[in-house]
Amino acid sequence: MKIALVVGARPNYMKVAPILREISRRTADGSSNLHPLLVHTGQHYDAAMSDSFFRDLGMPDPDEFLNVGSDSHAKQTARVMTAFDEVCDRHSLDAVLVVGDVNSTVACALVAAKRGIRVIHVEAGLRSRDRTMPEEVNRLLTDQISDLLLVTSEDAIANLRAEGVIGQIVFVGNPMIDSLEAARPLIEDVRPLQFPYGVVTLHRPGNVDDPEELTPIMEGLRRGSAILPLLFPVHPRTAAKLRDLGYPVRSSEEISGIPPGPGLWTLPPLPYLEFLRLVRWSSIVLTDSGGIQEETTVLGVPCATLRANTERPVTVEMGTNELIPRTAEAIDDAVRRVMAGVWKKGSRPPLWDGHAAARIVDAISGMK
Ligand code: UD1
Repeated sequence: MKIALVVGARPNYMKVAPILREISRRTADGSSNLHPLLVHTGQHYDAAMSDSFFRDLGMPDPDEFLNVGSDSHAKQTARVMTAFDEVCDRHSLDAVLVVGDVNSTVACALVAAKRGIRVIHVEAGLRSRDRTMPEEVNRLLTDQISDLLLVTSEDAIANLRAEGVIGQIVFVGNPMIDSLEAARPLIEDVRPLQFPYGVVTLHRPGNVDDPEELTPIMEGLRRGSAILPLLFPVHPRTAAKLRDLGYPVRSSEEISGIPPGPGLWTLPPLPYLEFLRLVRWSSIVLTDSGGIQEETTVLGVPCATLRANTERPVTVEMGTNELIPRTAEAIDDAVRRVMAGVWKKGSRPPLWDGHAAARIVDAISGMK
């Protein structure tokens, strides 16, 4: 069985890496007949958004690199579809595995479904119920055309059933946590800084594209950083918007050189291990990311999510995550509460145990 594993953007790599490793291990020892083809669409292409992750996660170079780059959603999605269609011409694929909710996910799923190639969706069934998020549209469409829907939490099963999906649903747990647990020994060893600090990430169009949304967030970060230094690795989309608003965005910064005391420190996007280590030792993470809500829950680090909704409710119900309003007051208040030691402790959701990839490959091998 020849199976393409698709990555396109930063949040995809840490989900695919453990699955690829598990497939390769079983193929090498003869316990499976899955033959993987690693496809990188090139949706993310900067070294800081792509290459460093391959290195940190121990991933081989992709077998196919589609070099689609950035553009409007329609053009980017169309470009992935055209290029991936040609990959399907070159290789006789039996299945295509896509992860998450980025444009590359829906594009490759659609190409495969139309060609009669089985579609496997890892992280199926997550729903924010907010269709202004491009990812929500990608999730809804991908799940409808998937043959095997692999879910990270039980709420996803209810979402999929309510939408009447016809594919097979299997609860496998969270492969992103496999990568995190594999990285543990490397992030537990060194404290990046010898004083308390917080971490910030922001990249959702809804937060950063409109100055009316971004300005109060930056004011909240400024206030919060007066009581707790905040380190802010800046996504390229956000960097462009901050520069437009006149905020200085540093392109390189030695974390170890950051002095104690108040300050909001912008940094370039960080490699996987460096970022995880920073989060592991931080007092609070302020973010609008999806995956970071999950990583902070497993690391037991307080997470304030600057969004009105989340497709990952288990991180709020069981974990350390709290949704907070995108106002200067709420951001400042979250930092103050953490500094006062007032934040829930949380617990680890079921099957976020570092062994999801094995269950994923079992489910693929047993596909009807
Ligand atoms: C994409 C995903 C989002 C995910 C995020 C993680 C979609 C719809 N969105 O959003 O779900 O959370 O990745 O990072 O698929 N850019 C660079 N270098 C790069 C990549 C992007 O400079 O390597 C800049 C470009 O100016 C581009 C902008 O960032 O226009 C946005 O990139 P794009 O891939 O369109 O969306 P993201 O905001 O990264």
